Amino acid sequence: MDDDELFETPPRTPGPLRSVRVASSGVDVTYERARVRAEAVAPGILRLRVSETAFAPQRSWDVLRPLSPPADAVVRDVGGGAEIALAGLVLTVGGDDAAVAVDGPEGERWLASAGPPRWARARLDALGLPHRDGDTLPPGADGVLVRQDWTLNAGDRLWRFGQRTGGLDRRGRTLTNWTSDTFGIGHHRGTDNLYQAQPLFLAARPGRAFGAFLHVSHFSRFDAGATHPDRLGIEALGGEVDLFLFAGPTPADVVEQLTRLTGRPLLPPAWALGFHQSRWGYASADEVVALVDTFRDRAIPLDAVHLDIDYMRGYRSFTWDPERFPDPKGFVRRVHDRGARVVAIIDPGIKDEPFAGYRVADELLTYGHALRNPDGSPFRGYVWPERALFPDFARADVRAWWGDQHRASLVETGVDGVWNDMNEPTVFDRPFTTGAARNRPFPLDLRHGDPGETASHLEVRNLYATLEGRATFEGWKRHAPGVRPWVLTRSAYPGSQRTCATWMGDNNSWWEHLAMSVPQLLSMGLSGSPHAGVDIGGFFENATPELFARWMELGLFYPFMRDHTALDTRAQEPWAFGEQVEAVARDVLRMRYRLLPYLATLAHEAAARGAPLMRPMGYVFPDVEATFDVDDAFMLGPWLLAAPALEPRCRWRRVVLPPGRWVDFWTGLPVGAGRTGDARPALVETTPGKPPLLLRQGALLPLGNPRPSTATPLSELRIVATFHEERSDYEVIEDDGWSTAWQVGEVARTALRSQLDGEALRVTIGARQGGFRPAPRTLALELRLDGPPGRVEVDGVGVDVRWDAARRAAEIRWEDDGSERVVTVSGGRAP
Ligand code: GLC
Repeated sequence: MDDDELFETPPRTPGPLRSVRVASSGVDVTYERARVRAEAVAPGILRLRVSETAFAPQRSWDVLRPLSPPADAVVRDVGGGAEIALAGLVLTVGGDDAAVAVDGPEGERWLASAGPPRWARARLDALGLPHRDGDTLPPGADGVLVRQDWTLNAGDRLWRFGQRTGGLDRRGRTLTNWTSDTFGIGHHRGTDNLYQAQPLFLAARPGRAFGAFLHVSHFSRFDAGATHPDRLGIEALGGEVDLFLFAGPTPADVVEQLTRLTGRPLLPPAWALGFHQSRWGYASADEVVALVDTFRDRAIPLDAVHLDIDYMRGYRSFTWDPERFPDPKGFVRRVHDRGARVVAIIDPGIKDEPFAGYRVADELLTYGHALRNPDGSPFRGYVWPERALFPDFARADVRAWWGDQHRASLVETGVDGVWNDMNEPTVFDRPFTTGAARNRPFPLDLRHGDPGETASHLEVRNLYATLEGRATFEGWKRHAPGVRPWVLTRSAYPGSQRTCATWMGDNNSWWEHLAMSVPQLLSMGLSGSPHAGVDIGGFFENATPELFARWMELGLFYPFMRDHTALDTRAQEPWAFGEQVEAVARDVLRMRYRLLPYLATLAHEAAARGAPLMRPMGYVFPDVEATFDVDDAFMLGPWLLAAPALEPRCRWRRVVLPPGRWVDFWTGLPVGAGRTGDARPALVETTPGKPPLLLRQGALLPLGNPRPSTATPLSELRIVATFHEERSDYEVIEDDGWSTAWQVGEVARTALRSQLDGEALRVTIGARQGGFRPAPRTLALELRLDGPPGRVEVDGVGVDVRWDAARRAAEIRWEDDGSERVVTVSGGRAP
């Protein structure tokens, strides 16, 4: 877009250099009309700020975590500018008009400014920023748009950018950061922004990765090669560019650096990794209890039921409908007695009904906790309960108050988790009951925050849900001390991952949306928010039996696995599509429960380093460029490659195999054998109920036994091992599944190692370490070999093994007493 379309007046630029002031960890460069600060803020993380005036103050609601400065930063005056070098990244600033370059350690360029940053008041219509008729951009910095253009390397992939539609590589697209519902319009592969705003990206090339986070909560936009293929344009309201740069060198390092800055992902309770059933329209306590009974009667595993808005009294958050849910505590107890959990939806739109018996509204108005119009009156808009008020989550006192609302109605009722919806936030243009309601933009001049730090809607909107999630999580921790809270959110900004899992909102029962969920969730993981899922079966419209079955097969690998659908769609429970589909769903869910020890270990890896559960192949194989564009298959953790069917009538499908040997998880047969090269295509069969799933060579995969729910303790921990020429290591991490004791070391860690020892294969299962003691159980070791092994010894003593030809697996079992075991196998070969 040309400058005269974008700006109201010709934009200003920094102009001539005035001074360079070098300090130990950074540099301040002053220009005639701008200041630039570049700093090394933590190992692997640099910060670059450009502003005409003073830098924006740090807000009390900011998402940044405390950091410790790096020891290895080197700052050098380079004459007319400065260079800041960290292991992995070199940032050069200076010269006239604030030239900037970002390079790797060997001088390989990531980004270079293509012209000076420029700024002026923006033309509202040019931004594509949804607004009401007559709205204007507020005066001051809020209305000032900064645009900075950068050159990109032709071959670099641009991944993540948060919740998006379309493929994993975002080059060629415009990416807006503005939280938006798409109610009634829906979304498709080309839709730009949805419910969440994650202004960040990861640039990848073979062997190296680099990342950036635009720390601007205002409306912003990336032109990722849409206008010019080799340019990246960054536009932000608020008058400032504030970029954090991540050194990598691998995609995993970039995600680690991002989540060190914005917070590590929460550790979900064990039940949250199980299966969730939901629908908009379960209308009574008896119906929900009967639903759980049906799961149990049909032997289909289930851990949680979700209560959509119908459990409330007239869509009033923090109430229960007295007729349909007459005894909330008794209802929750009945669900718990059946080994399942209850998650209840909460909408931030509080019915505007003062002094009519709805305490939440009374308090919101009396305390002045609502979002305000510029004249100080509370803002009102239509949502489910008709006219509603919206809490101002930018204020600490409002967050504390909001957290307290959960106590009586949810925590003390026994509810286990909260589902935060409509928190972009969303309002409609008319009462929903009129039947024609559409989304309506919020006024841009709404006021958020305490009187001492009031900010406009332009600055706070993108953070609204993240602050709501923080309020909910902290309130839950206060009122249920020692229990791991679980909050699901629809809208988000970086930092939300600390407190919330998320889903991708209202999709449709379309094959297109099934396939799109793969790049969507891979992108979420790279964006630091790995606990994500999409509505299995699709939300709007009716799933066909085949689509539903295939969606369960894919959903098996979603970090958050929930079947959910809209009001008035056909039944979408696992048994609703006939016996064949029910059998597929049962098989899939039994497999999900077998995967739980692995998923729990991966969740610990996420909580420790941000590592996603669902990983793009290019994340696991960052040297292999041929894997970079794969977004129809993915890795689950380090050991499993999943390639479910994503199209109708699919019996076989193509999958790109990264280097190394791969074994079919279900049959134990080698896949793609005999082919060589970096990465090679193979065909895999999409047997119903057994989605294509490959074990990587050297896998040490922890599995459990199928269970009705996580309320039943694990009776077997099983390690599935495949071999290769090198040594392989892994660590199984377990905890009690519900409390916060894991934060003080109450975990169990079991080190696993496999290696080829001359002609013998050796697996060592280390002694269990740490404060958590699992319930008594069997430990099974499942060795995937090309035929029955010769002699097998455990700790030097020969043992009998069971050979299962159907899976090409030799199996040894013993009571798990937590002590070390060394298993050697002679006369066995990898498949
Ligand atoms: C929104 C949510 C959806 C929910 C519905 C009713 O559309 O995205 O999941 O079922 O509201 O609460």
